[in-house]
Amino acid sequence: MAVLVLGGAGYIGSHMVKRLVEQGEDVVVIDNLVTGHPNAIAKEARFYQGDVRDRAFLDQVFEKETIDTVIHFAAFSIVPESMKDPLKYFDNNTGGVITLLEAMHDHGIKRIVFSSTAATYGNPEHETIKESDRQDPINPYGESKLMMEKIMHWADVAYGIKFVALRYFNVAGAAEDGTIGEDHHPETHLIPIVLQVALGKRPELQIYGDDYQTPDGSNVRDYVHVMDLADAHILAMKYLQAGHDSNAFNLGSSTGFSVKQIVEAAREATGETIPAKVAPRRPGDPDTLVAQSDKAREILHWQPKYDDVHQIIKTAWNWTQKHPNGFEDK
Ligand code: UFG
Repeated sequence: MAVLVLGGAGYIGSHMVKRLVEQGEDVVVIDNLVTGHPNAIAKEARFYQGDVRDRAFLDQVFEKETIDTVIHFAAFSIVPESMKDPLKYFDNNTGGVITLLEAMHDHGIKRIVFSSTAATYGNPEHETIKESDRQDPINPYGESKLMMEKIMHWADVAYGIKFVALRYFNVAGAAEDGTIGEDHHPETHLIPIVLQVALGKRPELQIYGDDYQTPDGSNVRDYVHVMDLADAHILAMKYLQAGHDSNAFNLGSSTGFSVKQIVEAAREATGETIPAKVAPRRPGDPDTLVAQSDKAREILHWQPKYDDVHQIIKTAWNWTQKHPNGFEDK
């Protein structure tokens, strides 16, 4: 039986594929390569290029392969882009999961682990966020993922398809060996942009707003290493394979870092100056997003290995230095 990784050529998906292969799993990858990189996919995996919204394509793959569990990353995930083009997000993310669940149901595939997000909470009720807190997104990206969670719930009730929703906080870092890492076009995420400034590929960092309700005025986020995240998916898959019920877990480090603190940490990790200046706010950004991740630790026995943002940045810096032009250098 194989594990299907949807979106396995993307940033998080490719790290997932690497980890699964390292653990001896038989891995099938689907990716439409709209944002993914074919040379990010571990060569041991069987790759099918196609779109999660294409029912005939999914049927072909499901007929050819024997899939035990689906791990779903095939979604758009850029908050500001979703503010400009919400329908793109509802079509690919929310629409895509409907087609996927229909195909899974028809082919008798009963388990799915999927990427949800801290963005489903909106501006949180409490300083750190619990899974049971109110989910009230303030951007279409978060809304599209909340809808996916709800659709999965009803697909479980009706068809018995069990799911684990993993609500990620801010994913960062790269594989320790520097073979794969983060490479988006255009890049919008804080840590890779900061490192491009450190490398001299950008003149300066723009800090989007310093008048938020936070200690230093810049946004506070909870950064989690991409390999720790991959491990959590494997634990979630095993949790479902053991016959447990559908569930949702936060994945974060439980520590918040402001944009300004990240710049400082990156200066220490790289030894570079990293010029930064304050710029206007970016639409759709909540002040603070910090997880309580005790539930994943208690129920899934998740033990993240990277508990320090400097270490996370160092793995990303290793990748950035080895591949200044991302996957073009592979
Ligand atoms: N930021 C800057 N300058 C930049 C880029 C980002 O100041 O050049 C700031 C943003 O305003 C934000 C913080 O850095 O306050 C982090 O921004 P990212 O774009 O790196 O990440 P987001 O918090 O917007 O979103 C990420 C993922 C989402 C996920 C969310 C959950 O992209 O998919 O984390 O916390 F939902």
